[in-house]
Amino acid sequence: MLSGLVAVSGGLALASTRPDRLRDPRESLVDSLLARMTLEEKLGQLNVIAGDHDTATAAQLALVRAGRVGGFLGVAGATATHEAQRVAVEESRLKIPLLLGYDVIHGYRLIFPIPLAEASSWDTATAARTAALAAVEAAAAGVNWTYAPMVDIARDPRWGRIAEGAGEDPELGSAFAAARVRGFQGPNDTLGPGKVLATAKHFAAYGGAEGGRDYNTVDVSERTLREVYLPPFQAAVAEGAGSIMSAFNEIGGVPSTANRWLLTDVLRGEWGFRGVVVSDWTSVKELQAHGVAGSPTAAGGLALQAGVDMDMQSNIYADDLSAVVRAGGLPEATVDEAVRRVLRAKIRLGLFEDPYRPAAQGDGTSGPFTTVARRVARTMATEAIVLLKNDRGLLPLTRRATRVAVIGPLAASREDPLGPWHARGDSTDVVSVLAGLRERAPRGTVVRYARGCGATDTSTAGFPEAIAIARRSNVAILVLGETDGMSGEAASRSTLGLPGVQERLLEAIVRTGTPVVLVLMNGRPLALPWAAEHVPAIVETWFLGVETGHAVADVLYGDVNPSGKLPVTVPRSVGQVPIYYNHTSTGRPYSPTDHFTSQYLDLPSTPLYPFGYGLSYTRFEYSNFGLAATRIGLRDTLRVHVRVRNAGTRAGTEVVQLYVHDEVASVTRPVRQLADFRRVSLGPGESQTVELAIPPRRLGVYDLEMKFVVEPGWFRVYVGPSSVEVLESRFEVVGKN
Ligand code: BGC
Repeated sequence: MLSGLVAVSGGLALASTRPDRLRDPRESLVDSLLARMTLEEKLGQLNVIAGDHDTATAAQLALVRAGRVGGFLGVAGATATHEAQRVAVEESRLKIPLLLGYDVIHGYRLIFPIPLAEASSWDTATAARTAALAAVEAAAAGVNWTYAPMVDIARDPRWGRIAEGAGEDPELGSAFAAARVRGFQGPNDTLGPGKVLATAKHFAAYGGAEGGRDYNTVDVSERTLREVYLPPFQAAVAEGAGSIMSAFNEIGGVPSTANRWLLTDVLRGEWGFRGVVVSDWTSVKELQAHGVAGSPTAAGGLALQAGVDMDMQSNIYADDLSAVVRAGGLPEATVDEAVRRVLRAKIRLGLFEDPYRPAAQGDGTSGPFTTVARRVARTMATEAIVLLKNDRGLLPLTRRATRVAVIGPLAASREDPLGPWHARGDSTDVVSVLAGLRERAPRGTVVRYARGCGATDTSTAGFPEAIAIARRSNVAILVLGETDGMSGEAASRSTLGLPGVQERLLEAIVRTGTPVVLVLMNGRPLALPWAAEHVPAIVETWFLGVETGHAVADVLYGDVNPSGKLPVTVPRSVGQVPIYYNHTSTGRPYSPTDHFTSQYLDLPSTPLYPFGYGLSYTRFEYSNFGLAATRIGLRDTLRVHVRVRNAGTRAGTEVVQLYVHDEVASVTRPVRQLADFRRVSLGPGESQTVELAIPPRRLGVYDLEMKFVVEPGWFRVYVGPSSVEVLESRFEVVGKN
């Protein structure tokens, strides 16, 4: 009797603390489904399994029919997705549609530049467009859930997954995280046609792997976690991201897939996330390898109670947890809460109204879609290119370059420009660098090609041919770097040079005396000090996707003036790693006149190329740096302005960057941190006053109690074309906390 009363009043209390549930008619669907579900069906909703070659097998469809699957990953194409949904909504008892996930990271079939390249554009609007186009194409193939954006901050280029994110900076990373979520999902809570549910991953600090080795241990302070690694996730949540993926890693002894503080207290409690948390591939099961669970059931219990709603590919929730729940080892209410979130995601996608909606349009898209998407891909690709060096204006190529040698293992490649994680990307869609240059070279130009060597070759047998064509040319364009498989998941490197004999090929061509343009293609910053010293022109292209050759030719021939800026620091040597611009000062900051300061004996203390750096074919001058106030309150946003003039003879686009530094705080602060940025296009001789802003979010610190506060005192503020070449000013924040 007593327990009955408690249950009733508890139930009432629960209802009254959730007015949203009473108001929202969608909740009644969730409630009624939940009320009719068996425990096995509930756990089935939490089960995500991988299809086989993009198709659900007969055995998997039988599981769907039995209500034991909530979603697939890697089932795509109109036929396969339609069949899986049909079985779910026609043949399963409760007719609940499926989530159909896919790694649409930088395109589905039509492949855009890798995320690190897109971040080099600092153009979040175009990044939102590429995500939106990828969503249209994926949705047309029946996919309704993408495992993107990957928003991991990466400070270590040995880590191959640096290619999938937006680089090293939390502010830039947050801007791209929000833009991509917006692109994939659109602006509304209910996702319209052609939209897919986004997943911010990998929560959290997956990029902080020791030694840059993928899947490795992370040991990071709560302060660095909150200041550096978490902001892009919070930005994705604020933008309405439908799901979050828990990472493979551990942080300070707690595997992320079992980290209740992270997945529940911070994510849901502090940030108000209401979507679905999905594990990474078998990361629930891997709690056993981590050594925090002695059995699959223990692993499943830990993950579910930590806040992982869906189990990807471990099959533990579906196979093992019902017995635990029945034995009283796991509250059924915890299962129910996870099921509610999954059902809400399906409602949000409109799947109960039309489970097939997008798949009906056919497998992939073509015609007008492709024309528009390729145009956006080309814009994004040209904006992503970073001009690292251009001595004596070797670039852009002029009509005098009538004999052009194109050399290198990546010059004619149509596979590598797709980069890692290229979903259904197809190399036949790719314009290689060689093809792009041949197409664009002025009539009468002789373009000769020699591969020189393979990307990882140890043989120099192809050198003589390459040297011979270089000797006969006015300019040699060398396309060197990494293959597509050398970055991405499980693709860490311990060195950051050019693989194989590529550097020797470069040296041999430079020795011919023919001016060399080095076009780099790679998924991580490469440490190339010799090239930086001896090669007159260097262009970083990362992996630019299907429009690679057109974009490279656009920039090399000056049809587009390069505007990309590095979203990540480029080291001189792997020994400098981790090296990032927003480090703290130390008690002994490097001084050239004092030996006992923080430095290496055998390396300069600067990077090869700093964060935010990138050249243009024109020259931008900065002047009249002004602040709207030199004294602001604790909650104020400071507006600043600067005059930027295109002092050259070509139109160009500059990325104006604003940095801030808190001079004295209760805890140490980065020597500089990005506060705002803007892309500005200026004709020759034209100038513009650019307005930027520093919101309190960029001024605050996590104080000694880990409370985020803006502390009164003096701040420095810097504006300029990179994180190092800057104009400087100061302002004071006043008030009491
Ligand atoms: C990766 C995730 C990916 C998942 C599904 C994992 O190995 O870490 O980024 O979304 O596989 O393909």
